[in-house]
Amino acid sequence: MTNNFDKKPLLDFIVGQLKIDKEGIHGTSHWARVRHHGLTVGKERDADLLVIELFAFLHDSQRENEWRDPLHGTRAADFAASLNSVYFDLNSTQLDQLCYAMTLHSDGHVHTDATIQSCWDADRLDLGRADIYPSEKFLSSEASKHIASAYEWSRHG
Ligand SMILES: [Fe+2]
Repeated sequence: MTNNFDKKPLLDFIVGQLKIDKEGIHGTSHWARVRHHGLTVGKERDADLLVIELFAFLHDSQRENEWRDPLHGTRAADFAASLNSVYFDLNSTQLDQLCYAMTLHSDGHVHTDATIQSCWDADRLDLGRADIYPSEKFLSSEASKHIASAYEWSRHG
């Protein structure tokens, strides 16, 4: 599935409702790196690139703080469902994948579904911004190849 759609209205809307700093650790530069990693890994794994891109833009969009907010993924899933058919068009399988990936993205799981795991890979490859070196244990083999370069980028990006 192509990720070719008009992103600006969606991004404006997401940024406009943020409760956290858009320049912060969970803000737009993080989303951009997650998008890049997710599309790189997702293309290699033949995953759904539209779901992955929407994960990048939405997964931290409902955070209420930068620290401990265990329900932010669940709120992001509800938020995504409310935007479907307005800013983007996902079928029910895609929306399920996106909501599942967001609900569980900060719980340390791995998944056999290439789209869901590519979302998690992408977020974890950017852990260097929080002084964490990404662990292969939680990444696909396709993502693991990018650990060193992603770590560098997350520190200096
Ligand atoms: Fe994230």
